[in-house]
Amino acid sequence: MKELFSKIMKGFEGYPIGKTLKYLRDPEIISFAGGLPSSDTFPMEFIQEVVERSLRENGAKVLQYSPIAGEKDLIEATIEYLKLDGIHIGPENIMITTSGQHGLDLVGRLFLDPEDYIVADLPTFGGALAAFEMQTPRYIARDIREDGPDVLGLKAGIKELVNRGEKPKFIYVIPDYQNPAGITTSLEKRIALLDLAKEYEIPLVEDSPYRELRYTGETIPSIYSLDNNEGHVIGLYTFSKILCPGLRVGFNIGPPEVIRKFTFIKEANILNTPKLNQDICSAFFRGYDLQSHFANACSYYREKLGFFLDALEDNFPEEMGVTWTRPEGGLFLWLTVPEKINTMDLFMKAIEDKVAFVPGEIFFPKKHIRHNSMRINFSYPTKEQILEGVRRLSTVIQKYGS
Ligand SMILES: Cc1ncc(COP(=O)(O)O)c(C=O)c1O
Repeated sequence: MKELFSKIMKGFEGYPIGKTLKYLRDPEIISFAGGLPSSDTFPMEFIQEVVERSLRENGAKVLQYSPIAGEKDLIEATIEYLKLDGIHIGPENIMITTSGQHGLDLVGRLFLDPEDYIVADLPTFGGALAAFEMQTPRYIARDIREDGPDVLGLKAGIKELVNRGEKPKFIYVIPDYQNPAGITTSLEKRIALLDLAKEYEIPLVEDSPYRELRYTGETIPSIYSLDNNEGHVIGLYTFSKILCPGLRVGFNIGPPEVIRKFTFIKEANILNTPKLNQDICSAFFRGYDLQSHFANACSYYREKLGFFLDALEDNFPEEMGVTWTRPEGGLFLWLTVPEKINTMDLFMKAIEDKVAFVPGEIFFPKKHIRHNSMRINFSYPTKEQILEGVRRLSTVIQKYGS
């Protein structure tokens, strides 16, 4: 049957992270590989009450099909919620998605023809690369710096393409605690990215799953808020990291002509987002003590991050040549090892030594792959696992590196 698959699907191998996660079934492995928020932060009792009430009072409706663009109540609650972050939009600017991954898929389907160009950081979120890969895109990509994208390098790449009579379809960035690198984009660079989008009339896609999870420093305005809803930015959000990922609910915001098209695509691919899950999310926005929820989650993750960074200091002496980022929020940090080490090979050795990470190459478009980095999730493992896991990681790097 394979020969009947579409040309694009014949070559499509899915999200490569899945291929590494299959090695993690051994319970003795300490895994820094997942992207899981800690289930200790989930408001279990609150969710249980909302579900019971929703089914009891409104069961027939809750279990029916629901509007494609999303439940009116959740849309209104989200519009109110975004005001707290300086974003002022109307219902024509928002569509509820079935998670952040769905939001990314919609962007790819709306903008990309085969071989189109996307502007992105190196590294960037592997799930976005997988979502866009359906349209076999090409990339204008530059190494991310300590303070965010290499805006000048990206601009030079765009200019070159424009001079050849072509134009990238969008700029994809994750300004807050980027997955995988854990880097925060400075205000200056956010403004410069917006200017770039305006100058070349290329939409800027701002992916924001971690925005509320800041552990140190001051919040920096989102690029969407800097644009004042003037139509240059498409914002992607999800409840996965701020509430829980099992609900699969998120929202895309942007100019009305984009949102309208998103609803047509959603109608054709998944139709609607389960109403029960949307009800949980709108109750969360309306009735939960968000301030303490985020404060608790942040203090929980802040402690884990501090603990992880200390463990790295203690186990990676300078002469090992290993460096890492120091995130201000989010769930990940990025570790770079000496160039002679290929972290995909190292991964197999690490599994034997019962510790796991995500090999960095998964976060690079195929033509731009680097082999000497890894993504580390610091939020999920316990403190004991962090201590032992970092020790194992250091040992395996030393063994392999020599
Ligand atoms: C940058 C980024 N975008 C999107 C997503 C997808 O979110 P979701 O779990 O809601 O599909 C993630 C999840 O890890 C992410 O890190």
